[in-house]
Amino acid sequence: MAAINDVTDLEIRDGIAVLTLDSPPVNALSAPVRDGLYKGMQQAIADDNAAAVVLVCAGRTFIAGADITELGSGGPQGASLTDVQDMMESSPKPVVAAIHGTALGGGLETALCCHYRVGVPTALFGLPEVKLGLLPGAGGTQRLPRIVGPEMAVEMVGIGEPMGAEKALEVGLISEIIKGDLTEGAIAFAKKLVAENRPLVRVRDDDSKVAPARGKPEIIDNFRKAHARKNRGFLAPEYNIQCIEAAVELPFEEGLKREGELFRELLKGPQSAAQRYMFFAERQAAKIPDVPKDTSQIPVRKVGVIGAGTMGGGITMNFVNVGIPVTIIETAQEALDRGLAVVRRNYENSAKKGKLTQDEVERRMGLITPSLDMADLGDVDMVIEAVFENMDLKREIFTKLDTICKQGAILATNTSALDINEIAAVTKRPESVIGTHFFSPANVMKLVEVVRGDKTAKEVIATCMALGKKIDKIPVLAGVCHGFIGNRMLFGRRVQADKLILEGATPKRVDDVLYEFGLPMGPFAMSDLAGVDVGWNPKTSQGGSVRDRLCEAGRRGQKTNAGYYDYKEGDRTPVESDVALKIIRDFAAEKGYPQRDVSDQEILERCLFPMINEGAKILEEGIAIRASDIDVVWVYGYGWPVYRGGPMYWANSLGLDKVVARMEEFAKDDPEFWKPAGLLAKLAAEGGKFQ
Ligand SMILES: NC(=O)c1ccc[n+]([C@@H]2O[C@H](COP(=O)([O-])OP(=O)(O)OC[C@H]3O[C@@H](n4cnc5c(N)ncnc54)[C@H](O)[C@@H]3O)[C@@H](O)[C@H]2O)c1
Repeated sequence: MAAINDVTDLEIRDGIAVLTLDSPPVNALSAPVRDGLYKGMQQAIADDNAAAVVLVCAGRTFIAGADITELGSGGPQGASLTDVQDMMESSPKPVVAAIHGTALGGGLETALCCHYRVGVPTALFGLPEVKLGLLPGAGGTQRLPRIVGPEMAVEMVGIGEPMGAEKALEVGLISEIIKGDLTEGAIAFAKKLVAENRPLVRVRDDDSKVAPARGKPEIIDNFRKAHARKNRGFLAPEYNIQCIEAAVELPFEEGLKREGELFRELLKGPQSAAQRYMFFAERQAAKIPDVPKDTSQIPVRKVGVIGAGTMGGGITMNFVNVGIPVTIIETAQEALDRGLAVVRRNYENSAKKGKLTQDEVERRMGLITPSLDMADLGDVDMVIEAVFENMDLKREIFTKLDTICKQGAILATNTSALDINEIAAVTKRPESVIGTHFFSPANVMKLVEVVRGDKTAKEVIATCMALGKKIDKIPVLAGVCHGFIGNRMLFGRRVQADKLILEGATPKRVDDVLYEFGLPMGPFAMSDLAGVDVGWNPKTSQGGSVRDRLCEAGRRGQKTNAGYYDYKEGDRTPVESDVALKIIRDFAAEKGYPQRDVSDQEILERCLFPMINEGAKILEEGIAIRASDIDVVWVYGYGWPVYRGGPMYWANSLGLDKVVARMEEFAKDDPEFWKPAGLLAKLAAEGGKFQ
């Protein structure tokens, strides 16, 4: 075997050159990999003993993509990917990509320059760049539609989900599925090509799949329209779509040029930078300085959930989805039946969409054991309590759990804001108590705040972080404080939003500004959705706030078809409400608020800067380990637009000195509220950033 370089080998087997990449962990297209490919191809082409070339990878996968650490740096070194691709595509000998694991991004783009592709049955193929705010910039958008047609190509680049081997075979992305040894199979395939004198298929030269779509913009426009809502605010999906349009309408070289221009624009722009930051932030969140990776974990084979309400049902689904049986406890049969019916309906809906088989629905439902007796939790490894948000009730439940659960079982609470230490203190095993704060709908939302109490054992933390990942969530560690990371940052925003509507802005205007910023909804639409009366007490309500007055008037949100907005029966679309506006204006007049036209900019800053300030406090108090954890919480728990990278990243990108300068202006009206956190003031003065 002749080594080309540290990561590339070349050998001739049976008259076929086998070029092997071995660059763990995922054979990413780093400079040495590109160099190895280039030189290896050169040598293989020059070698008279080789009639064809097979490109194969060692380890767990084919080339899984670009080396994304290179993207943000000073640019690629050594042989460019284009050089490598040209060398392959113009090779006078057939080149076969032998694919296992995942051929993603640059990996698939490299494979598209081979004349043929074969893969193992488990191989996956995709161009997921859109998920990092990019597009496949190495010809992927021009070659893929020439193989699979523009309709499928636009889906693959516009959504970024990979395709399995069966499908890839069906659509012509690969020529054969190799069931036995991949290299042997690929060599046999290459020998067959040579023996049959099959043509060198240069994808770039084949227009047959794109030509029929020429002059028919609706083919791609349909995709654009179907995904408009989800793609709101994102640049990359639109640019990916435009590249496919270019592949249809332009000659290959011109399409390639267009792809390059759009790629460079995305690469240099703020959105992709934010999305790449989030990619690393998400992975970073798993690292806890004082809980090393090798901390022992508690095996969790059976779970108990207390409360089959909004959260308990969704939490239960998360576990049974990965095969962990759940005993779910309620106080009354009716509540239990209702809770399980919602779970079943969710699964049935997935089945209707073809995402689950009916057998699978039954299997998952079969993993749930309903019970009205907490004593049934004696054998579970972990309990998650999801009853009403009431400290006395939670204390009562944890006192009982302490007597029922086996030693070593994890006792978790799904509280949104309550003090985990106070809950832990009622047990004789506070080391086993932890917060696992899921977000609604708990079976859908990716975030879990794992809240460590003062006495929570490291083993328990390590287990919950790992378990979170196992159930396909993104766990972020938080410390104990009112509202933890996410909800705590909402409080200040609410104060300002409530004030803004008294100064002359309308609920709709405030909500619109935040929606335009990219959040899923503003605070008033959110209130209506959750119930304006959450936390409101009719016995003590004395019209002391707009909220009190709305509730007193029976305007309790969507459930009453009236809140900050009006709703038509059966329709959740908020409609501006004259009644609510009058309540707001009357209240403002009574309290002597002068009315003015508040600018969109002011609305945005007054709603979001308090979040930044609170985030700074959360950091300096050690509630969050790092700024990027706060960003992960906001992106995955609250729908902060990922292309803005989370509130702390966003603050860094604005410049902390500028944020503080604006806060100082607002402070003229309310110095106490707008006082910058120590950390924020310090970083702003030093020209620093949140880390
Ligand atoms: N709803 C949300 O958006 C959300 C989000 C995150 C966290 N949380 C938190 O999750 C918890 C549950 O909230 P929810 O929205 O699911 O409430 P919910 O009112 O929908 O459900 C609570 C359920 O607990 C049951 N319950 C009450 N006492 C019980 C007991 N002693 N034993 C067994 N079951 C009992 C009730 O019958 C009810 O079905 C709260 O602590 C809440 O703060 C809620």
